[in-house]
Amino acid sequence: MSSSTKSTANALTMPRHVAIIMDGNGRWAKLKGKLRTFGHKAGVEAVRASVRYARENNIQALTLFAFSSENWKRPEEEVGVLMDLFTLVLKSEVKRLNKNGVRLQVVGDTARFGDKLVSLINKAEKLTEHNSELVLNIAANYGGRWDIVNACQQLAAKVKQGELSAQDIDETLFDQHTSLHGLPEVDLLIRTGGDHRISNFLLWQMAYAELFFSSELWPDFDEHVFHQAVLDFSSRQRRFGLTGEQIESEEVAPC
Ligand code: IPE
Ligand code: IPE
Ligand code: MG
Repeated sequence: MSSSTKSTANALTMPRHVAIIMDGNGRWAKLKGKLRTFGHKAGVEAVRASVRYARENNIQALTLFAFSSENWKRPEEEVGVLMDLFTLVLKSEVKRLNKNGVRLQVVGDTARFGDKLVSLINKAEKLTEHNSELVLNIAANYGGRWDIVNACQQLAAKVKQGELSAQDIDETLFDQHTSLHGLPEVDLLIRTGGDHRISNFLLWQMAYAELFFSSELWPDFDEHVFHQAVLDFSSRQRRFGLTGEQIESEEVAPC
């Protein structure tokens, strides 16, 4: 990596947890006169670049939106290619991720995937579970609404079994039942592809995330675009409901 994309200690406020909506593969391919699926394949290199950037800059967690609950509605052929690509990438990348100390987790309703893919996911998660350089979450068959409903179901079951009373449920306990539990809050959300929307990504977890929208299409995303987002993040004043004066005087801790 060039020194221009590597942060120097104290120079930048780094986000601890970055989430990315990797959008624009289809349009990227179309601009080149190719099939949409060509864009998905090209997007894998941008995934590698983002993992590299996160590792080299000591970001603790990176959560990538790979396939939404709603993406099943796409043409069958495109969904098939995406599933095959997910399988292929898991097979080819896990060894290197493990060697680099990356912990891989797949978040989302994985029950809908085929047995082969589920078994690959389980193996990859098990192999990397003790790594601590970076937590890489791949959100697949993920929806923010699903995540919230899933947490509610788990909590309701515990109340029913008498393990909990409804009054015990607070924000901390609720959070512990969501997909990204145990990780720092999402500090920075990046969306490529030029659209300014959330598309049912991390609804609960983004309460205080800083948002960065890039017009780059996902296959063109690289360390430099990631760094631009981090520079932008670093220049913002996060107030968490306080006044700017309170933050500047540092009398009140922001969180
Ligand atoms: C994002 O790129 C990848 C997935 C949603 C799987 P798109 O496939 O949505 O690309 P555009 O937005 O149509 O260009
Ligand atoms: C969001 O992109 C999902 C992923 C990047 C995996 P979409 O392309 O599906 O979002 P919409 O349909 O434009 O909102
Ligand atoms: Mg899209």
